[in-house]
Amino acid sequence: MTDIKELLLSRIRDVQDYPEPGVLFKDITPLLADPSAFTALTDALAELCVRHGATKVVGLEARGFILGAPVAIRAGLGFIPVRKAGKLPGATLSQSYALEYGTAEIEVHAEDLSADDRVMVIDDVLATGGTAEAALHLIRRAGAEVAGVAVLMELGFLPGRARLEPALQDAPLDAL
Ligand code: PRP
Repeated sequence: MTDIKELLLSRIRDVQDYPEPGVLFKDITPLLADPSAFTALTDALAELCVRHGATKVVGLEARGFILGAPVAIRAGLGFIPVRKAGKLPGATLSQSYALEYGTAEIEVHAEDLSADDRVMVIDDVLATGGTAEAALHLIRRAGAEVAGVAVLMELGFLPGRARLEPALQDAPLDAL
């Protein structure tokens, strides 16, 4: 295992039966509280933004904000929040997506993305892939290009990567 992978894994806490029985929650707060690990994570994600030629960073509410904002600064790029429905004050584009039970909706300010942008999506976890897939649709509907998706971790026992593949359209998906 690489040093960074070992460092990041050592700072992620498994919480059994949270938020409901039978779920093993991956808690990143120990990682955020450790400046060496948080810096290593930020640097690695920023390096991916540069490598994939991104011009903007999109963070997915809420943990994608905590990671995406320092990554954007480190990479010298603007940060664009993709929020849960009803939180952005300006004209938005909205995208609904299916959850296990029901649907969810995310939004972006329409003016924040344009045809000149190549966008890197940053989040903590890729689970079912529904949130990231919806974000990619939003980015394309705004006329922008997708530079890639980069997450701290991918839950390999869920089919998130397969679900995301068509929406990626050959853009890279990196999980540290
Ligand atoms: C979590 C996580 C990702 C998403 C991944 O966010 O931070 O954004 O779920 O799941 P998916 O791949 O199945 O879509 P959550 O909606 O729990 O919000 P939070 O970050 O505000 O806690």
